[in-house]
Amino acid sequence: MPRLNLPRIRPSEITAERYFHMRRDLLTTALGLATVAAIPGAKAAVPAAPGAPLTYTRNAKYSVTDKANSFEEISGYNNYYEFGTDKSDPAARAGSLRTRPWMVTIAGEAAKTGTFTIEDILAPHPLEERIYRHRCVEAWSMVIPWVGFPLADLLRRFQPTSRAKYVQFTTLLDARQMPGQRSGVLDWPYVEGLRIDEAMNPLAFVVVGVYGRVLPNQNGAPLRVHLPWKYGFKSAKSIVQIRFTERQPANTWAISAPNEYGFYANVNPQVDHPRWSQATERHIGGGFFAARQPTLMFNGYADQVASLYQGLDLRRNF
Ligand code: MTE
Repeated sequence: MPRLNLPRIRPSEITAERYFHMRRDLLTTALGLATVAAIPGAKAAVPAAPGAPLTYTRNAKYSVTDKANSFEEISGYNNYYEFGTDKSDPAARAGSLRTRPWMVTIAGEAAKTGTFTIEDILAPHPLEERIYRHRCVEAWSMVIPWVGFPLADLLRRFQPTSRAKYVQFTTLLDARQMPGQRSGVLDWPYVEGLRIDEAMNPLAFVVVGVYGRVLPNQNGAPLRVHLPWKYGFKSAKSIVQIRFTERQPANTWAISAPNEYGFYANVNPQVDHPRWSQATERHIGGGFFAARQPTLMFNGYADQVASLYQGLDLRRNF
């Protein structure tokens, strides 16, 4: 049989070459991003280990003056169904989540898409602390000193096109790290969405820390979002994909019970959940017999966000 005289390539070389191209693409994109995304201020090197100290400045303009909840309350009373449905499950079980290496895919209607390391995602953004009210649809609330940066600054780096009307966030899918994903309690992975103008509102925040330190896993490390005028379920944790879309994307809780959970999920004391009132809330840490507090329209952020919903029927768009 005639032998073709092809150059011999060892598998290790093929891998190395593929890796080289992949890395070069990433670097090219990252460099491109750096030029489109020059954000003034020091580059933030965000450490990986939960609890490691962060470098940040306080942002009083976007902070409430209410007393913040304790670190133990914020990190011990959580909703994170990937680790179980009890409030104490996430703190007990989220140690199995590995937050490095961590990749985030930017997809859909944007000029710059691709898969980036968490370091590439975070590096250009100076960190700030904002004390935000946090109101869950289950009618409890907290006050949390988050550390992070504006979601708009992150999204703009990828140059969303004019067709980008919405943005969807996807949480990690990996039942080995997230044992709750073995149960059918929700559709996995967890997905959430925002209208693009909501996502670009200055209050919309990418969170990487709390109380000046790297976020505990149970709060959504290595990065989650928080929209303080919306019920907590809009704030997807441990994000691995951000997709710009033309049509309204699916969101997990609305998939599981569309008559109970809508797309907008704005805090609204006038529109009750079908099974319970949203007029008042129980402040975590207030003690069992403490009086319930009245819930404020848009969780107290109406001045900053009410204009987003002019002309929208908030009873239908709940
Ligand atoms: N994100 C994921 N991936 N999985 C979840 O179960 N729960 C949501 C939201 N983000 C959830 C999630 C709900 S219902 C709330 S109230 C907040 O996270 C809770 O955030 P916290 O635990 O940091 O207070």
